[in-house]
Amino acid sequence: MTNDPLLQPYQLKHLTLKNRIMITSHEPAYPEDGMPKDRYRAYHAERAKAGVALTMTAGSAAVSRDSPPVFNNILAYKDEVVPWMKRLTDACHEHDCAVMIQLTHLGRRTGWNKGDWLPVVSPSHHREASHRAFPKLIEDWDIERIIKDYADAAERMYAAGLDGIELQAYGHLMDQFWSQRTNTLEGPYGGSLQNRMRFTLEVLAAIRARVGERFIVGVRYTADELASGGISANEGLEISRILQATGQVDFLNVIRGHIDTDPGLTDVIPIQGMPSAAHLDFAGEVKQATELPVFHAARINDVATARHAIANGLVDMVGMTRAHMADPHIVSKIIAKTEQDIRPCVGATYCLDRIYQGGDALCIHNAATGRELQMPHNIAPADHKKHIVIVGAGPAGLEAARVAGERGHKVSVFEAAAKPGGQVLLSAQSERRAEMISIIDWRIEQCAKQDVQIHYNTWAEAADISALAPDVVIIATGGMPDTDVLESGNELVVSSWDIIAGDIKSGKNVLVFDDAGDHAGLQAAEILANTGAKVEIMTPDRSFAPDVMAMNLVPYMRSMQKLDVTFSVTYRLMSVAIAEGKLTASIGTDYSDYLKEQTYDQIVVNHGTLPLDDIYFELKPDSTNLGAVDQTALIAGNPQAQVLNAQGKYQLFRIGDAVSCRNTHAAIYDALRLMKDI
Ligand SMILES: Cc1cc2nc3c(=O)[nH]c(=O)nc-3n(C[C@H](O)[C@H](O)[C@H](O)COP(=O)(O)O)c2cc1C
Ligand code: SF4
Repeated sequence: MTNDPLLQPYQLKHLTLKNRIMITSHEPAYPEDGMPKDRYRAYHAERAKAGVALTMTAGSAAVSRDSPPVFNNILAYKDEVVPWMKRLTDACHEHDCAVMIQLTHLGRRTGWNKGDWLPVVSPSHHREASHRAFPKLIEDWDIERIIKDYADAAERMYAAGLDGIELQAYGHLMDQFWSQRTNTLEGPYGGSLQNRMRFTLEVLAAIRARVGERFIVGVRYTADELASGGISANEGLEISRILQATGQVDFLNVIRGHIDTDPGLTDVIPIQGMPSAAHLDFAGEVKQATELPVFHAARINDVATARHAIANGLVDMVGMTRAHMADPHIVSKIIAKTEQDIRPCVGATYCLDRIYQGGDALCIHNAATGRELQMPHNIAPADHKKHIVIVGAGPAGLEAARVAGERGHKVSVFEAAAKPGGQVLLSAQSERRAEMISIIDWRIEQCAKQDVQIHYNTWAEAADISALAPDVVIIATGGMPDTDVLESGNELVVSSWDIIAGDIKSGKNVLVFDDAGDHAGLQAAEILANTGAKVEIMTPDRSFAPDVMAMNLVPYMRSMQKLDVTFSVTYRLMSVAIAEGKLTASIGTDYSDYLKEQTYDQIVVNHGTLPLDDIYFELKPDSTNLGAVDQTALIAGNPQAQVLNAQGKYQLFRIGDAVSCRNTHAAIYDALRLMKDI
């Protein structure tokens, strides 16, 4: 018997949860045709197998047709969801992991121009900033049908054998009724708090009438909107008591904040550089004020904080959601006392930003997450030990080294710099993004366990590599900034990396021309603005920094708006000239032949990287595959077996930005999917 507070069982009504760790509801946007099919099931089953006690599936599963998904959610209004949810539930139950689902009606938090093109409904006409639909004021017949839809959806989940459901009430229809910010109704559903809660109480009653007393029903709700005119902490406590008094609610899953804007959402779900466990004490206050079990998640991404939450009785079940995306095996590692091996969630929130912009949730540094059907979380040993030589110790090179080491190969890594990390070192230069370095640190620790030899300050020449007689050579040398994008004056500009690395001092009046649209442009601009420089960010695109995405943009804007950074969209820097120490920028646009001139004293170009690939091309002629990747084999998960040069001495591959400028996830995925079969 262990006395670890996290590993103690928890009795939720009749249901024994085997430990205190749960995954809260989060839609990774994996449904196919609105159904949780094989990919979805494999994702949850992996985490169930590794010991999580409760997985709250879906996220905003739609109960009604006029609540069309905003990021490919499960369609709980369809009967065909029952067999799919049953298969998922059975797969998790096999590992003694309880399964529930979050059901919702989004109200105004969606769009009308998708799905069945039905008008969006809400208890006011107020538009939500994030999703932009102007809602129809909800009518009595809408309320009646939506209550029935909730009950129908709950009954489907009951039929599928789930242990329970959770109703979403933060930013969605349910709390749009609660909050005076979003409820302008009079009469039975507007006005007093009791009236504003009426819809919820009727939904609960309708659900209970279908699923009985035993089925677990909880509410995930904002108990303090932290917004002027919204639900206050006091009103939130009152709401908690009203929910408890119904006798129909089995748990409260506490949220603090509002999600109708990107900054609001980011405060509810803090990203890297923001406080850890920001709302945990508040959840503890709700627990004190009610007798219901309390669940909570918000950036509790390390085991020590989770343990503190349980040991101090702040919550009954602690959510570690993104932490489980980064490492599905947290619980099994706690049990095995190998917590130090947990792949850390670095809070990059690439996962959540991607559900809106990229189509599915992927972890920045675990390329197996969401790809459980093809990519292993545990690396299998190889049949034959090989000597693998890797050039470059950035994210791609180190992931290749880690995977090769776990396969049991002899691995030698050569890195020109004194430290590992490549471009991640640059990202981590910003205090706010310092956690990124854990992507590297974790791999260095894992490599050390596999006896991977890493040689720093070593510029590998092709002849040195050949002399080692390797079986496989991996080129992961990354890239160098490409500023050569102007008609003239390329020699007068500096790169975003020069600024981030501190190699070039900030000017006073600076133009950052960013047509890569990634973190480096904004990161450089923020560093410059922090020195007191006047900074203008210019992009030829119609919006700036598209690859930074919604939640990641929030901390940049908070910092840069205060520093008066300005943004010019749809303009292209054409050329730069110098006269009397001033730089004159010739500025055009892709939209017309319009041209203007502006002066600055420093111009920074952010235009991605060009591959550092000399060594690859030098090694290519002596390789068996002539550097070629058999893409069919790669995608199918088969070993690389192409022989294009029978006299070749080794297989040769290149990965990450040594191929072309992409991002950290792509670099790590390149490495994992190649090396797992070598
Ligand atoms: C990809 C993704 C999708 C999410 N979707 C939902 C959702 O549909 N409903 C919900 O209540 N929370 C959603 N969340 C929020 C999580 O449940 C959780 O509150 C949040 O990630 C903070 O917990 P963590 O720091 O342990 O990740 C989502 C989170 C992620 C990462
Ligand atoms: S992308 Fe970042 S926040 Fe999301 S799970 Fe991975 S490490 Fe955590």
